Amino acid sequence: MRKRPLKMKPDSHSPSSAKPLSLRDAKRPFVLAHFAVTADGKISTRAFTPAQFTSRADKRRLQEARAAADAILAGRGTVETDNMSMGLSAKDLREARKAKGLPPAPIRVMVSNSGRVDLEGKVFSYSESPLVVFSTSRMPERLRSRVARKADLFIFPGKTVDLSAALQILREDFGVKRLVCEGGGRLLRALAERDLVDGIRLTVAPKVFGGYSAPTITGLPGDFLLPPQEFRIIRQSVEGDECIIDTIRAGSRISHFPFRISHTK
Ligand SMILES: NC(=O)c1ccc[n+]([C@@H]2O[C@H](COP(=O)([O-])OP(=O)(O)OC[C@H]3O[C@@H](n4cnc5c(N)ncnc54)[C@H](OP(=O)(O)O)[C@@H]3O)[C@@H](O)[C@H]2O)c1
Repeated sequence: MRKRPLKMKPDSHSPSSAKPLSLRDAKRPFVLAHFAVTADGKISTRAFTPAQFTSRADKRRLQEARAAADAILAGRGTVETDNMSMGLSAKDLREARKAKGLPPAPIRVMVSNSGRVDLEGKVFSYSESPLVVFSTSRMPERLRSRVARKADLFIFPGKTVDLSAALQILREDFGVKRLVCEGGGRLLRALAERDLVDGIRLTVAPKVFGGYSAPTITGLPGDFLLPPQEFRIIRQSVEGDECIIDTIRAGSRISHFPFRISHTK
């Protein structure tokens, strides 16, 4: 039986509930990884610069994926490198969500094992959708109450966030059924190691970055995933000079993503 992390109250160093609850029978959301890659499989340069190598159409597709999701998830590295708000900037998509009776933008979720988050980042000043932060007892005490004032903060015991439990909390406490993970590589690798990736959407751009030390969708070159993760292509198309490939975890009984996001015009 897994223990729930402690949920921090704002302006307090003490947990709001220390009572362990069973997560054994809980479900989790469908996890779609959404990445842009170069023809040689890189998601960024060796300097981990912000991912700006795809078209405006691709940026729009990302907004559409956000709009179709209940939550978006990213690691601290991506949130801070790209100074993401993780918000939904497209007004028409916010309006379309509202017309369906949904909140204007999906819940934003950030994970950080170290807890050394930058409170000056845009993610903490954006206020149009709730922010959830999953961290560990490594988060400095002085930051906890400040983060908890701006986000729902969950502190896991030990050194790493239990991603499976975090996803279950998102489903049970926040009603998240469809989640788009926007990276980065280290987070995706950690999810894949736990078999928590249900689908991958790749936008392949006809560029070649080269370089051993530029990350791929599973981060920097490292150990093989054991066992390797297999996915099957459910759809592919070419838009402009980019190729969009949708895949689903092999063995899954579903044949499409459980939410509608655009593909070709
Ligand atoms: N092309 C694309 O589509 C795309 C998409 C996303 C990102 N990127 C690029 O990728 C680069 C960032 O890569 P990255 O690997 O540093 O990103 P990342 O995975 O977002 O960030 C890594 C950090 O996230 C936290 N983290 C990762 N796995 C975790 C886990 N299992 N539990 C808790 N926290 C976890 C850790 O934060 P702590 O250090 O605080 O513990 C870790 O240092 C940037 O250049 C970005 O532009 C590209």
